[in-house]
Amino acid sequence: MSSIIDGKKIAKEIETELTAKVGAMESAPRLSVVQIGDDPASASYIKAKANTASRVGIALTHHHLPVDTSVKELENLVDNLNESEDGLIIQLPIPKALEPVLERIKPENDVDGFHSENLGKLVQGISGMVPCTPAGIIELLYRSGNAPEGKHVVVVGRSTIVGTPLSLLLSQKGVDATVTLCHSRTKSLHEHCKKADILVAAVGKANMITKDMVKPGAVIIDVGVNRTSEGLVGDVSHDVRDVASQITPVPGGVGPMTVVMLMSNTVKSALEN
Ligand code: GUN
Repeated sequence: MSSIIDGKKIAKEIETELTAKVGAMESAPRLSVVQIGDDPASASYIKAKANTASRVGIALTHHHLPVDTSVKELENLVDNLNESEDGLIIQLPIPKALEPVLERIKPENDVDGFHSENLGKLVQGISGMVPCTPAGIIELLYRSGNAPEGKHVVVVGRSTIVGTPLSLLLSQKGVDATVTLCHSRTKSLHEHCKKADILVAAVGKANMITKDMVKPGAVIIDVGVNRTSEGLVGDVSHDVRDVASQITPVPGGVGPMTVVMLMSNTVKSALEN
């Protein structure tokens, strides 16, 4: 039976460190979150971000715009917030026509780490804003005693927000994992997963990683957040707990780490700019 990697508790540790840092600053770091439309998941993520920001001492402003917001209107808001804020994010998903506006966020204010300049820096191993979920997973591994150095990490899912940047971070000098990046077209997914010392599931498909895909003693990081008739479930099936040594729960694993890394990026931006 596996033990739990408590993301909530580790996120709290980081929160405490950030609160002390912010307490020593002359003014509160400023973070703006732009929401477009009424996606229920977005509303719940923004609530979690606002609660954490308030505990850390970050001044978070929530801008809620209608779904029919024009490109020009969003561009104007981003241009203004680029000047007034330390951090600025646009909560995804947004209508496709508005997606190019994401590139208008100043890279130094891009505390989500989604801007092509920040992703380019990640490829080059240069310091920039690192996407929050991958950064949170790296922190979670170190702080739970699972340093990735020399380990074979299999990442399932090649999204721009999670799988691809995570594979880059893990293989960077100093982190030194050996990474296999699997995706929807991977042949023999079972065999690849079975070789993992650390298996990261970031697909968005409920219970797709099953017990027979996991090496006994492996560490499992479940990034999935799937709303099903049985409630919120991850990408990893419950029976994996019979063979894994450690596993992140859903909820209470990666989710709180993503939120606290957003706060960490905001503090970093406020200190550097
Ligand atoms: N939607 C789901 N996760 C995220 C995130 O980390 N950042 C933004 N901007 N939108 C999201």
